[in-house]
Amino acid sequence: MQNKKYKDLEVYFDLMLSNGASSLYRIVEEMEILNSYTLGEKFSADELAAKHQFKLLPTKVLLDTLMTLGLVEKAGDSYVISNVMNLLKGNYQNLSSEYWAHLPTLLKSGTPFKRMDTVENSEKEYQVQVKSLEWMMTPCAELTVELISKLHSETNIKEGAINVLDVGAGSGVWGFNFLYANPKATCTLADWPAVLVVAKETSKRNKIDSRVSYIEGNFHQSNFGEPRFDYATLGNVTHIQTPEENHRIFKKIYDALLPGGRLIILDAYGKVEEGALARSLYQMGLTIRTVQGKVYQPSELQPWLSEVGFKTFEFHSLDVVPYSMGMLIAKK
Ligand SMILES: C[S@@+](CC[C@H](N)C(=O)[O-])C[C@H]1O[C@@H](n2cnc3c(N)ncnc32)[C@H](O)[C@@H]1O
Repeated sequence: MQNKKYKDLEVYFDLMLSNGASSLYRIVEEMEILNSYTLGEKFSADELAAKHQFKLLPTKVLLDTLMTLGLVEKAGDSYVISNVMNLLKGNYQNLSSEYWAHLPTLLKSGTPFKRMDTVENSEKEYQVQVKSLEWMMTPCAELTVELISKLHSETNIKEGAINVLDVGAGSGVWGFNFLYANPKATCTLADWPAVLVVAKETSKRNKIDSRVSYIEGNFHQSNFGEPRFDYATLGNVTHIQTPEENHRIFKKIYDALLPGGRLIILDAYGKVEEGALARSLYQMGLTIRTVQGKVYQPSELQPWLSEVGFKTFEFHSLDVVPYSMGMLIAKK
């Protein structure tokens, strides 16, 4: 916020611009204006207008605005849909609108949209979600490995034969990024079997499958084995667990870490200012879709971690898109 005097105006413009952008996107989707175009297929404003029997001038202005939004790109005198517009045709299409539409019901009845935090729902819900999470969390996972490599130079995570446990791994995005950065690293992913299908495909495609093992099933019940891990990651998991469940899972991870091993807890609790709106909306979304969903702050998690034996702590924000994430690192 540059000038307090203009704060009201800034708030107004922020709201108006978000509304304008999402309204525009929604209309383009609902009217299926760009749906027929494949990636790389060129079209002109005249062709688009003729195809839908639109007037030319507003069609041109619409295309220019979509260009500013990053949804179409210029290709010579023509246009092409952008990579993200192409992705938005799939699972991401409605930008979670169904969650927001449920807010009035939640406010009046207290009933969340879908209970993703129940054991019965978790497996089938996350089977769908983790693929998009992989895309969304990749910059954060890459940065995590870079930061850890610098912060803990003694552990030599880029060259040493380190072993990583990824709990509630989903797509495996956190664990796998250690493997992409270091050909000697190995990792074990713990999650539901149906969810791990996604990670198994990724590991084969990226030729890291010989270095990945799996602990399939309810992670509250599965055995993580003897202390053998240098690092454990728990990404976007603590916010769907009760305090007691978090406590239990921390203890299990503590027992599976080697002396001096570290647990990295990643969640939407970074401090980068640019991520403030993403963090608020994330918590609102969690409240809409879960009963117990809550982003526990590092100050809330730390006492639970200390109780199970972790000794030292450090916190770092992840200054990369979506700017909302942070990592709390607890050392055994
Ligand atoms: C929000 S996702 C996070 C996935 C991944 N760590 C990430 O950050 O992209 C939570 C993950 O925890 C898994 N999960 C939740 N409860 C579980 C349980 N009781 N047993 C095994 N996995 C569980 C879900 O299947 C899901 O993959």
